[in-house]
Amino acid sequence: MRIDVVTIFPEYLEPLNVSLVGKARARGQLDVHLHDLRSWTHDVHRTVDDTPYGGGPGMVMKPEPWGEALDAVLAAGPEGELPTLVVPTPSGVPFTQELAQELAQRPWLAFAPARYEGIDRRVIDEAATRMPVVEASIGDYVLAGGEVAVLVMVEAIARLLPGVLGNAASHQDDSFAPGAMADLLEGPVYTKPAEWRGRAVPEVLLSGNHGKIARWRREQAFARTMANRPDLVARWRQDGFDKKEREALSVLGL
Ligand code: ADE
Repeated sequence: MRIDVVTIFPEYLEPLNVSLVGKARARGQLDVHLHDLRSWTHDVHRTVDDTPYGGGPGMVMKPEPWGEALDAVLAAGPEGELPTLVVPTPSGVPFTQELAQELAQRPWLAFAPARYEGIDRRVIDEAATRMPVVEASIGDYVLAGGEVAVLVMVEAIARLLPGVLGNAASHQDDSFAPGAMADLLEGPVYTKPAEWRGRAVPEVLLSGNHGKIARWRREQAFARTMANRPDLVARWRQDGFDKKEREALSVLGL
């Protein structure tokens, strides 16, 4: 997968050299290109922002540098191909595991993280006439800029690419992964030693009884989801998952 990121803080994306994403890059599974938005400014101050039309607090990112930057990104990519433009913004659609999976299918993603109050709307509207555009939010809080959201999204997407995770099965049971465990949070995990500071690992996990272990894990997943995410439990109902709900209640002895 090719990834382009246009930002005024390329150094903010340094973590893309580390760990899972760094290794995926080193192996050639991810081809990451960082671009400094200011390279497409033409004044001595390398200005990327201006005051908002209509007034109000903060500054808005100017359309001209973004327009030129996106033109350059399109021109630098594989001929005849178009990226999907991902714009991190708290006003976007929720960035979910499902969206991560959808984006992981695309061969080329270009990220446009904004600073200040956002990018002049015309940039997004014009880009949308040329390529698919996804405006996505990583959560209901406001960051100082979209760069950290890019790190979050790239990591969530990269671990889904074929061959990036050592053990392909390890993302199948993830919280939020579609399938048997959809809308269920993962339960607790344990490793050696079997006793630590007087706390024993739940006995069932040492039993070697795979059926019992699977049932215990499901019980834990249901209990955790009910305690921490009542919104997901409500979704079981909405999605016609009352079977899951009944199962949860009976598993929990309720
Ligand atoms: N930029 C600022 N806050 C953000 C958020 N919650 N998600 C994505 N991009 C953002």
